[in-house]
Amino acid sequence: MTTPADLAAVPAEPSAEERRFAEIIEADSRIEPRDWMPEAYRKTLIRQISQHAHSEIIGMQPESNWITRAPSLKRKAILIAKVQDEAGHGLYLYSAAQTLGIGREEMNEQLLAGKARYSSIFNYHTPSWADMGAIGWLVDGAAICNQVPLCRASYGPYGRAMVRICKEESFHQRQGFEILLELMQGTPAQREMAQDSVNRWYWPSLMMFGPPDDESPNSAQSMAWKIKRFSNDELRQRFVGMLVPQAEALGVTLPDPELKWNEEKQAYDMSEIDWTEFQEVLAGRGPANAERMRRRREAHEDGAWVREAAAAYARTQAERKAVA
Ligand SMILES: [Fe+2]
Ligand SMILES: [Fe+2]
Repeated sequence: MTTPADLAAVPAEPSAEERRFAEIIEADSRIEPRDWMPEAYRKTLIRQISQHAHSEIIGMQPESNWITRAPSLKRKAILIAKVQDEAGHGLYLYSAAQTLGIGREEMNEQLLAGKARYSSIFNYHTPSWADMGAIGWLVDGAAICNQVPLCRASYGPYGRAMVRICKEESFHQRQGFEILLELMQGTPAQREMAQDSVNRWYWPSLMMFGPPDDESPNSAQSMAWKIKRFSNDELRQRFVGMLVPQAEALGVTLPDPELKWNEEKQAYDMSEIDWTEFQEVLAGRGPANAERMRRRREAHEDGAWVREAAAAYARTQAERKAVA
């Protein structure tokens, strides 16, 4: 005889749509906006894509700070183009998130209300010109390592947005490397400025990959859904492996005395990351958290007339169309 307790213990048969979803994931194919998807998958993607979009937009601030002080016309043009690219990345990503049923306004409200996160890396100050080099080389470099695998993310609009973003990120990384290279071939003061900047950005850039694997509870599910393809620690290792020969070419020292290749592990040994610093910045107590949010709020208010004008234009166009 079957009792109610036995019934509860038997897992429900997956529905046709659940099976279809699982098949698409299994086949490495793509989930598109009109496909059925589990609610948790949708929520995870909204959180990840909107955080990513917010990071691109807030990420414009540390560098736009240097546009008026760039050392030459050429450097100014490159920096303006880079900061504009980041605005574009934010827009592609907000659009990708919108296909999951969340509005742009709502995402923006979450950011301004401090309910949505953005990457902690943008809560550090940029006191020297060399920081434009270190950000491009290390921060955009870490972003590439994180984002290239996302080009194959199981959600179609996200993966496609990432393809274009990654192409632009490689230019960002390259221009940062080149700024540092020029400084490293300059005067002792310029070399010192470049090294000081690398010292300040190296550890925060390693923290961009997120907490160690054993403390990253959502990672396994994201990997099963093929949103994420590699773990935080795997990506961090890959990044360090990319940096070591580039640091040699630049002539800068990576500020980790423990950093060395471990033949047996086929990976780099490195010092313990200071996760208390990471947690502090994440909790809103980093050097520039308050300033970044204040500036974003001001920019949003300053842009009100643009949004109103665009809405008025759209209304007139629609009215004209209706009359015709
Ligand atoms: Fe970007
Ligand atoms: Fe970038």
